[in-house]
Amino acid sequence: MALGKKIAVIGAGNMGEALISGMLAARAAAPDDIHATDVAAARLDQAKARYGVRVGVDNKAAAGWADIVILAVEPQVLDHVLGDLRSVLTGARLVLSVAAGYPIARIAARLAPGARVVRCMPNTPSVVQAGLSALSWGEHVTVEDEQVARAIFESVGRVVVVEERLMDAVTGLSGSGPAYVFLIIEALADGGVKMGLPREAALQLAAQTVLGAARMALETGEHPGRLKDRVTSPGGTTIAGLHALERGRLRASLMDAVEAATTRSRELGTE
Ligand SMILES: NC(=O)c1ccc[n+]([C@@H]2O[C@H](COP(=O)([O-])OP(=O)(O)OC[C@H]3O[C@@H](n4cnc5c(N)ncnc54)[C@H](OP(=O)(O)O)[C@@H]3O)[C@@H](O)[C@H]2O)c1
Repeated sequence: MALGKKIAVIGAGNMGEALISGMLAARAAAPDDIHATDVAAARLDQAKARYGVRVGVDNKAAAGWADIVILAVEPQVLDHVLGDLRSVLTGARLVLSVAAGYPIARIAARLAPGARVVRCMPNTPSVVQAGLSALSWGEHVTVEDEQVARAIFESVGRVVVVEERLMDAVTGLSGSGPAYVFLIIEALADGGVKMGLPREAALQLAAQTVLGAARMALETGEHPGRLKDRVTSPGGTTIAGLHALERGRLRASLMDAVEAATTRSRELGTE
């Protein structure tokens, strides 16, 4: 869906680039509708060469030109960037922030009253358009803003809307989750190597198995327990493997991981 909006991407790093690439691929925006800024000239040259978008180092000029401003700089520089953009980030523009651990209230406090702010928590697979982005709406966000924000983040994967107080839990699950799954893929591949498979084949078997199972869970909408039961025949190989995983407390370990990362995200938010 073409949004017909001018979009400034402040910070053309990993996430900024993923969003530019996704919006163009989904035809949500044309190259001329996007203005990317960064402090690193090499980043801008790359964005211009790869995507043909407008580029520049002047955040204020880009934000002032745009209808939608995506804040994709590191959280530690966001205070400074917001200070610079305060006069242009009025209620006239939609502000989408992807800065991890940076609450809507902290953004709104640095802008004029009435600012329309959406907090977004995408994850790394957004760079291959298989991301998960959680969105929370600020007070002045309109229904049209919600549709626009959804369309932008759907261009890099799936979207869920959550209350902002749950953003730490999102961080603990889908934010940190790709790292858990990378570990699982590596471990499955190690198991394959132990059983005699060549490393490269083992990695492909492991990664594609994770991808395929995830797609089945999402596309069928069936409970994962049911899907598991369907491939677990009495006295067969799979139940033997599942028993080993239960003995190794995989289920409890993964729950502990989400809990620990959520707690850490809360701690970082108060530091
Ligand atoms: N990557 C992810 O998977 C992910 C997931 C969720 C949320 N996020 C959030 O997305 C944001 C960006 O993360 P990232 O991984 O894309 O980081 P990144 O690759 O470092 O991108 C940030 C970019 O912003 C540039 N920048 C710094 N100060 C700037 C300024 N004043 N004006 C314009 N550009 C400036 C940086 O340049 P320098 O490198 O020269 O400083 C860098 O190119 C962060 O807030 C992060 O919390 C990322």
